[in-house]
Amino acid sequence: MQNEQQATMEKIISLCKRRGFIFQGSEIYGGLAGTWDYGHLGGELVSKLKDSWWKQFVTAREDMYGIRAAILMRNEVWEASGHVAGFSDPLVECTKCNHRFRADQLEDKEKCADCGGALGDARQFNMMFKTTIGAAEDSASVAYLRPETAQGIFVNFKNTLDAYHPKLPFGMAQIGKAFRNEITPRDFIFRCREFEQMELEYFTEASQWETHFEHFRGEMLSWMESVGIDMSHVHELEVGKDDLAHYSKRTIDFEFDYPFGRKELFGLAYRGDFDLTNHKLDYFDEATGERFVPHVIEPSFGVDRALLAVLLSAYREEGEGENMRAYLKLKPSIAPVLCAVSPLLKNKPELVEKARTVFSMLKKEFGNVMWDDNGNIGKRYRRQDEIGTPFCIVIDFDTIGDPSNSSGQEKTELLDTVTIRHRDSGEQERVAIVELVEKIKSQI
Ligand code: GAP
Repeated sequence: MQNEQQATMEKIISLCKRRGFIFQGSEIYGGLAGTWDYGHLGGELVSKLKDSWWKQFVTAREDMYGIRAAILMRNEVWEASGHVAGFSDPLVECTKCNHRFRADQLEDKEKCADCGGALGDARQFNMMFKTTIGAAEDSASVAYLRPETAQGIFVNFKNTLDAYHPKLPFGMAQIGKAFRNEITPRDFIFRCREFEQMELEYFTEASQWETHFEHFRGEMLSWMESVGIDMSHVHELEVGKDDLAHYSKRTIDFEFDYPFGRKELFGLAYRGDFDLTNHKLDYFDEATGERFVPHVIEPSFGVDRALLAVLLSAYREEGEGENMRAYLKLKPSIAPVLCAVSPLLKNKPELVEKARTVFSMLKKEFGNVMWDDNGNIGKRYRRQDEIGTPFCIVIDFDTIGDPSNSSGQEKTELLDTVTIRHRDSGEQERVAIVELVEKIKSQI
């Protein structure tokens, strides 16, 4: 099982590089650990995941305000949030080779896993990336790259109240980069030093927190399912009191069965009034004339982990040896390429011309449509399967009614029809060009 799972991870990493989804950050200079660059297809998939999240959690609702806060934030924000004092992991260093490890993740706490040398004492290592703003490098110019997008929301709570006058309960959401100086970034895009989060803070009266906690638990599960995460690999873990983050009164981790073990995918936390109290913010209820500090429910999603779970859920292999076919069974709604359009032969101008017309029509309608005339048709299908393209459309001699190459069927029957080849079944069907857009739309 271990080998099988390892193989899957290696296959996913190699597919992502080969097909232009994900590359190591700063690769041509030897790579920068914990950073990843998304190529065209990876970037498209990430955009689709983020769009679907934003649609479900922001635009489809009446009670949500989307924001885009700055990544660099003042020292005082992180002092108030408790991150300067408490956002750290225990670090140990080998006295011989100086390699560093997270103490809480070590099986042998005495000996170095790399060289067998003695490990030193554990010390707390703050994971925030610190920098200084402007020319002077004094304590007043210290700033941090945010380790969570959440604080960008809390510091804009008052701005949102003043600008839009929302009534409780309401939420604020944002998608953006977060940075953590992880001691041991690992497992591809699972644990990075630079990553992206999709977070929302839902503000409510204290008495209502459980209702909203349950509501967002359901919303989180429904979003995971909607983007194609294999729900049989998702498990809920009630985080024990001793393991709760410093701000949390209750947390559920949604874990996923990755090839490297069952680990956190997303989290749902009840942050109580911790953050607003520490930032000295509150809410005035006009109806009752009361001023109080709302409580907060926080669904938090890592974009990169979502992408990894989607890729692992979608990866399929069929057949053996030469006939082995690997494909990504991505939902059409999130596939980076919805359909690929090909002329059967690229050296027949009449086929190319017709295929170009079909391509333009579909491109205008759907956007994420690819022109593919590289190699023979078998190779094209193989390539499109690997990037998860649900529909391959081929323009052949029957489409143009070429008598010399006709398949033998009644010419008029097949004129202006194309082949749609379906990724998952490999089946092909003949569809009239005028019905093509509706046919594809019905399957998204
Ligand atoms: N605002 C709450 C918060 O940041 P968290 O559990 O530390 O909570 C939330 O992070 C989510 O961000 C995680 O569930 C995970 O999806 C993602 N995440 C956290 N650290 C990450 C890392 N180093 N690399 C990639 N994703 C990460």
